[in-house]
Amino acid sequence: MTDDCPPPPADSPAAGAAPQRLRVLIERQTLAREVRRLAQEITRDYQGRYPLIIGILKGSFVFLADLIRYLDFPVTIDLVRLSSYGSQTVSSGQVKMLHGLEVPVRDRHVLIVDDIVDTGLSLSHFADYVRQREPATLKICTLLDKPSRRQVDIHVDYVGIAIPDQFVVGYGIDCDEQYRNLCDVCVVEE
Ligand code: IMP
Ligand code: MG
Repeated sequence: MTDDCPPPPADSPAAGAAPQRLRVLIERQTLAREVRRLAQEITRDYQGRYPLIIGILKGSFVFLADLIRYLDFPVTIDLVRLSSYGSQTVSSGQVKMLHGLEVPVRDRHVLIVDDIVDTGLSLSHFADYVRQREPATLKICTLLDKPSRRQVDIHVDYVGIAIPDQFVVGYGIDCDEQYRNLCDVCVVEE
């Protein structure tokens, strides 16, 4: 799938949007390797436990889709939509749940999957929400981690790649709803 995907555009393709330069930070081959590694760890830890995997929309949808296809045991998938960013590149600190859980979490082995842990505010807020519903176990997996930006103490059990404090897009991750379709993770250079 990844080899046929187009390279990132040289600048912003959306009509009316200000031009932004993109620089590849993490190539698709590296993403694929990390996703496979995370899936191996999850497979080892969840064998025979029939986990409930909760993806956080929208940013995790590409990562989640790739990750779950490496898991060769029964899983339930649910999706929630959280929002903490407006159209800005700076977290508002306010976490809203725009679409909630449909599958009960009580007594389930829950794994939350997100794209990036940045300040940690949204994941810590959502993890508390899940914990109040009494899962059997609760773990967190994120593709990317910006440790230098953390504002709350949150333990992420499965981390793909740590990145510096730069705003990234691609592989499901957006800037003002653009660039989710890029195959590589890119830095937006203003
Ligand atoms: P946090 O609550 O600050 O940890 O981050 C919440 C969400 O903000 C993440 O799950 C991402 O969806 C989004 N986010 C954080 N950093 C970036 C970025 O560099 N680019 C795009 N979205 C980001
Ligand atoms: Mg997110």
